[in-house]
Amino acid sequence: MHNTQPWRWTADGDGLVRLYVDRGRQLVLEDPAGRNAVISCGAVLDHLVVAAQALGWDGEVVRFPKGPGNDLLAEVRLEQSQPSPTAVDDLEAIRTRQTDRRRYTSWPVPDEVLHALVAEARRRGAHARALDDEVVRFHLERLAERARVLRAADPIAQAELERWVDHSAEDGVPGDVLPSDTDPAVSPPSRFPAGSVHETRTVSSPGDGVIVLGGAFDDRAGWLRTGEALSRIWLRATRDGMSVVPLSLPVEVDAVRHELRKELLRYEFAPHLLVRVGWQAIGREPLPATPRRAVSEVLRTT
Ligand SMILES: Cc1cc2nc3c(=O)[nH]c(=O)nc-3n(C[C@H](O)[C@H](O)[C@H](O)COP(=O)(O)O)c2cc1C
Repeated sequence: MHNTQPWRWTADGDGLVRLYVDRGRQLVLEDPAGRNAVISCGAVLDHLVVAAQALGWDGEVVRFPKGPGNDLLAEVRLEQSQPSPTAVDDLEAIRTRQTDRRRYTSWPVPDEVLHALVAEARRRGAHARALDDEVVRFHLERLAERARVLRAADPIAQAELERWVDHSAEDGVPGDVLPSDTDPAVSPPSRFPAGSVHETRTVSSPGDGVIVLGGAFDDRAGWLRTGEALSRIWLRATRDGMSVVPLSLPVEVDAVRHELRKELLRYEFAPHLLVRVGWQAIGREPLPATPRRAVSEVLRTT
């Protein structure tokens, strides 16, 4: 979230890798429960497993080996094996995947594509549902708008977000990946202030799809699975030429999260994250990659 990279790794040189959530990088006001920090860690955990498989290492994951309250989120035992048959595509998807907040085209995401992404998420142990009904989508857009209005009325949380825009050369969201126009008729509504990326086209009704990821409970065990599911959805969508934008604000705002759970999910599961999927215009300007911290800063060898 906000490219905070809230993780720490250790590796013992003998195939055992540990992933910790870095609470010092948790967003105190926007993410007081640490939901988005753990989801972010789940995504990076799954990226590790996919990358390891591509490089010829099978990763057996044990989640919360010291219980759900501990910052140690997962242990991965790596065993040498064969590179996965999809290795080249997987590594390419990890390298090229990015959050592109520009407006999608009006090409609809076909139901079967959306449902294939839902199936990917469920295989990672998350609950997932495509919001493909028009009435439900209308309701969702209203809830998302309400979340934006409620958050905008909280200047301290808003200041936290703004601190993470152009934060540093190794973390935070650079202004040069954010759309320059905040008019919803031009760019999709966003929690971020205007950046410097110009929209080249406008469409009145983008054909995007939305998936809700969640779990039986609103807890760390479920958040980690949701992050792993987000990673799988993102890599698959990238391979298929689609773009993904996670939307956490409607889940972050308590009143909106409760309504989402009641009105849209009918208490079927607890929502953790919304994911918007769509097609970006062919031939668009490439976006610069967001920066990452050096490996030496996030990995300690023991
Ligand atoms: C848990 C989580 C929540 C996120 N919520 C939002 C969001 O509400 N709005 C948004 O525009 N991007 C959101 N993002 C995207 C991040 O800002 C983005 O992944 C991060 O800045 C790194 O950039 P990259 O994806 O281009 O590598 C979220 C990402 C995660 C993992």
